[in-house]
Amino acid sequence: MTLSEPTAYHHEQNYSATDRKTLGIHYTPDSIVDYIVRQTLAPGFKSPDFLLKIKILDPACGSGLFLLKAFDILAEEWTQQFGHFNDEDACYLIENCLFGIDIDENAVHTAKQHLAAKISDENQREKLKFHIIVQDALSLKKSKQTQLDIGKNIDLICFDGQQFDCIIGNPPYVRIQNTSLSKNELQTTYQTAQGRFDLSSLFIELAEFLLKQGGRVGFVISNKILTTAATKTLRQFLATQFCIEEIVDLSDTKLFNAAILPLILIAERAVRGNNEIQYSHIIQTNYPTAPILQTDNLLEFLKNLSPLAETYVEYKHKCFQIRRFPTILPKQHTTWAFHHHSEHKLLLKLKNLSAMTLEQMSEKISVGLKTTADSVFIKPMTQAFITQHQFESQLIFPVLESENVKRWRCDWQLDRDLSVLYPYTESNNKVFPIDLIDYPHVAHYLQQHHSQLAARTYLQQARRQWYEIWVHHAPASFRQRKIVTPDISTRNCFALDEQGFFVNGTCFFIILKHDTLIFYHAILGLLNSNVIEYFHKVSSGNTLYAKRFRYWASYIKHYPIPKKLLDSMELQTQLAQNTAQLTQAKNQAEIFELEYCNNQLCYQLFDLTQDEIREIENKLAVFKL
Ligand SMILES: C[S@@+](CC[C@H](N)C(=O)[O-])C[C@H]1O[C@@H](n2cnc3c(N)ncnc32)[C@H](O)[C@@H]1O
Repeated sequence: MTLSEPTAYHHEQNYSATDRKTLGIHYTPDSIVDYIVRQTLAPGFKSPDFLLKIKILDPACGSGLFLLKAFDILAEEWTQQFGHFNDEDACYLIENCLFGIDIDENAVHTAKQHLAAKISDENQREKLKFHIIVQDALSLKKSKQTQLDIGKNIDLICFDGQQFDCIIGNPPYVRIQNTSLSKNELQTTYQTAQGRFDLSSLFIELAEFLLKQGGRVGFVISNKILTTAATKTLRQFLATQFCIEEIVDLSDTKLFNAAILPLILIAERAVRGNNEIQYSHIIQTNYPTAPILQTDNLLEFLKNLSPLAETYVEYKHKCFQIRRFPTILPKQHTTWAFHHHSEHKLLLKLKNLSAMTLEQMSEKISVGLKTTADSVFIKPMTQAFITQHQFESQLIFPVLESENVKRWRCDWQLDRDLSVLYPYTESNNKVFPIDLIDYPHVAHYLQQHHSQLAARTYLQQARRQWYEIWVHHAPASFRQRKIVTPDISTRNCFALDEQGFFVNGTCFFIILKHDTLIFYHAILGLLNSNVIEYFHKVSSGNTLYAKRFRYWASYIKHYPIPKKLLDSMELQTQLAQNTAQLTQAKNQAEIFELEYCNNQLCYQLFDLTQDEIREIENKLAVFKL
């Protein structure tokens, strides 16, 4: 019996939403399981001897989907190599080749039942000795001292280091703060347990511990491992301990009901320098720019593509763009963004034609306020609430949230939008927490929230007052002319703020060194251009759900500022004048026309050819909602 997608789905439905979250239970569709297991096992079948000795582990096996698939593939191979496959052969595979662990007893029971169903003789079925155990797999790494005893009583089995040929699965994506596991304990055992890590990262380190030299891992994990700060150590670990062979970024394709944007990783435990990686990226799009092919199995289709392909395909009534190309790991592990040859060439040209980066021409590029208690300092602060509490007006400032930042301009209204209670005073360009005695109404309000605010013990540890804002900026920074962007957006959405709004942590802001309005307008025009949007989307490599991107300072600071913009007053003035009109324009046709002119000007600033312009516009079309 092969466990089908509906069976996996039904098994998953036996769990409450909370259990699914804390155990990371999201069962994997058959097409993904099939792809991973075949790609991981494929090079293993070198000889019949190898088939007899192979040991495959799923360390978070759930109801056994990956093990069942491995069984089917081994059975196919067995039949080819030995010319038969009977109950005895099936028992051999189950008892010698397939190993599973899961923390959930029910899932382990189901996995055993499913594997047992592969044996038709009831007698043999009852005598089967499984190596599928109920255990916290992550505890294996510290239990090194326990000796391996494979093949004996199930209760005696434990898994020591370096014994498996293949490790496969869909490890649980559970943030450490949502588990009952001890963060400190995990951190002493796992070097990748850094920052706000999730358990699936640790399963990669566990795989390294359990695999033989040359053994292979095939996991589906979150595509966050490519970009987030918390997974930087994991990227370093992967780069030094594994040879990555294949990455398939499924991003927001919604091929299965996971809590993550999934990525398939196939790697070998080996140190072989910077080897070639087969990288594929699948993205759903409503704007194909080439003819569309058809398929009923997206991953099977992918497998048969040439190593350097870009194609559009219809699958389950949706259109997907697939890009597949060989690449190597970036030298830096800050983020891993993989670029097609054409993207690489164009990014290089943009950098080569720049005089400097946005960071080099900025006084400051920073995230806004991080109060760590928005429910006290910002969320209730409507005009009515402020009036009702008679807050001292010197401590109240209008604040921009991401929804107030539109493309080109900020939209904040006193009767609709929020302010921030900012408990600081300024003297000699320095900022000090207020003396509560001087502001009785604000003091009374803050005292009402004392327990919530004082629970932020990190403030006391930093010798700061309990009523302070965690990341506060000097009001002088906010009062200046600046460019603001929401932290998350589907497209470049930079806006000019001339009114000195405060900025909350859902936005980033940029203060330029050169403070003329004309220069601000020219830079704003550039930041919202197709060229810079292309630069952002291709170089950050960090998509969220629904084609949204992060606009973090760490990405923005690298934007290239073209030499021509600084050298040609004529182009600079033209761009600034158009942009000035855009900051005022309300009519869609007018906005469209002005943006078109700005884009053409920016193409000119970077000396782009028609082919390069097409590359930019095609790429942006794929990302359009
Ligand atoms: C995403 S599901 C994958 C199940 C199965 N491999 C599949 O794809 O159908 C993750 C599994 O990890 C298990 N799990 C969670 N924490 C675990 C741990 N510390 N050790 C072993 N298994 C764990 C859960 O019980 C769940 O069955």
